[in-house]
Amino acid sequence: MEIRTATLADLDQIAAVEKACFPPAEAASVDSFRERLMVYPNHFHLMFCGPKLISFVDGFVTDEADLTDEMFADASLHNESGRWQMLFGVNTLPEYRRNGYAGQLIREMIRTAREEGRAGVVLTCKDRLLHYYATFGFIGEGPTDKSSHGGAKWNQMRITF
Ligand SMILES: CC(C)(COP(=O)(O)OP(=O)(O)OC[C@H]1O[C@@H](n2cnc3c(N)ncnc32)[C@H](O)[C@@H]1OP(=O)(O)O)[C@@H](O)C(=O)NCCC(=O)NCCS
Repeated sequence: MEIRTATLADLDQIAAVEKACFPPAEAASVDSFRERLMVYPNHFHLMFCGPKLISFVDGFVTDEADLTDEMFADASLHNESGRWQMLFGVNTLPEYRRNGYAGQLIREMIRTAREEGRAGVVLTCKDRLLHYYATFGFIGEGPTDKSSHGGAKWNQMRITF
């Protein structure tokens, strides 16, 4: 397994993994990933099995402390010198799950954010994944009123370094 950051050439594989992982109302589109990859390819962490992308995480950096729906939709809000690393998406192809791959990428994102001198890492998730993210040190902050994409209820979680 190889872990690396992204380039625009990874666009098709990233969009395909996203599509395999989320219902249409929640999946980010190819256009959205193109925009993200043009602005912050260095904040994608990808895991490959040979040439095949099997898992990835991504999220931009901002001085805003809370994750909002606008951030998912607008990559231009990225600020490379921002305080907080946002974690927008965590995806592993169904047939590769439960091997710790997403966990390795989440740890890689946390490690990188710490190394870059950020204040911490912020994510939103559904109730069923609260325990999973807690295993990496994320602390729950309860339901957020700043994110409702896909019509779901989202909880905010944070690691502060
Ligand atoms: C959530 C998701 C990213 C997890 O990916 P993954 O690569 O399977 O993640 P991990 O392997 O690190 O952990 C998943 C589970 O497998 C367990 N696991 C990890 N390594 C394992 C191993 N070697 N053997 C058995 N189980 C293992 C983990 O403890 C975890 O268990 P839990 O769900 O009871 O907490 C994946 O299921 C997914 O893409 N889901 C759809 C999209 C989604 O909901 N994303 C999150 C919201 S952004």
